[in-house]
Amino acid sequence: MEPKIVALTGAGISAESGIPTFRGKDGLWKRFKPEELATPEAFFRNPKLVWEWYDYRRQLIAKAEPNEGHRILARMEREFPNFYLITQNVDGLHQRAGSRKVIELHGNIWKVRCTECGKEDYDYRVPLPEIPPRCDACGGLLRPGVVWFGESLPPDALMKAEKLARDADVFLVVGTSGVVYPAAELPYIAKEFGATVIEVNPEQTPISRIADIRVPKKASEGLREVYEFLRERYGSSGQG
Ligand code: APR
Repeated sequence: MEPKIVALTGAGISAESGIPTFRGKDGLWKRFKPEELATPEAFFRNPKLVWEWYDYRRQLIAKAEPNEGHRILARMEREFPNFYLITQNVDGLHQRAGSRKVIELHGNIWKVRCTECGKEDYDYRVPLPEIPPRCDACGGLLRPGVVWFGESLPPDALMKAEKLARDADVFLVVGTSGVVYPAAELPYIAKEFGATVIEVNPEQTPISRIADIRVPKKASEGLREVYEFLRERYGSSGQG
């Protein structure tokens, strides 16, 4: 039976692409206040300010390239038929690196959704020609297609992620501080159902306590080691 390998990623895997994390020393929440920029209340209070911030992040991401860490996870998907990727990131870099089986728990920064008619599209324009952007169907105010604090995650994405965590033989946790729920619950579920938990993160996190293997390195280096470990343990069946 092919091994069920699941990876959960956070902002740390995009750090080497030049995308700021949220809670690191130069993290976004050190410079900006989440309650002013990443909540529904903040958005409806000041949609222009919130969109200026998202447009700034979209411009950063548009200039960024996937890094070796993203590429190794895409290679794992090609090599192991039962490999799945769950991400908290909204930057879309996993897909640009070639990952296809990606569950986006917190949405995608390139998605926009109308607050009036609910129409949802991908809009890759940087910078946005009009801030705040308007729905081309009804003229309503568009919002970023991401999950804000206080909002629930897309139910189907969360259900799929929890099932993958329960069924996993190996659960990789890469580049996340493990403090935002319900995403942070997934490694504990995997552990409880018997998975080998491997954490790749230069810093300790609450998840370090339950990790069977800790790789205290940056994602690109750490994932290279993990990839070799998995090939030794499970043999390289695929076209790696
Ligand atoms: N390689 C691996 N890990 C790294 C690297 C790197 N090069 N650089 C930093 N890290 C680690 C940090 O040590 C930290 O533990 O990545 C983690 C980033 O943590 P956060 O900034 O908290 O990002 P994340 O865990 O993804 O945040 C979760 O919080 O703000 C919300 O919705 C947002 O999805 C986000 C969620």
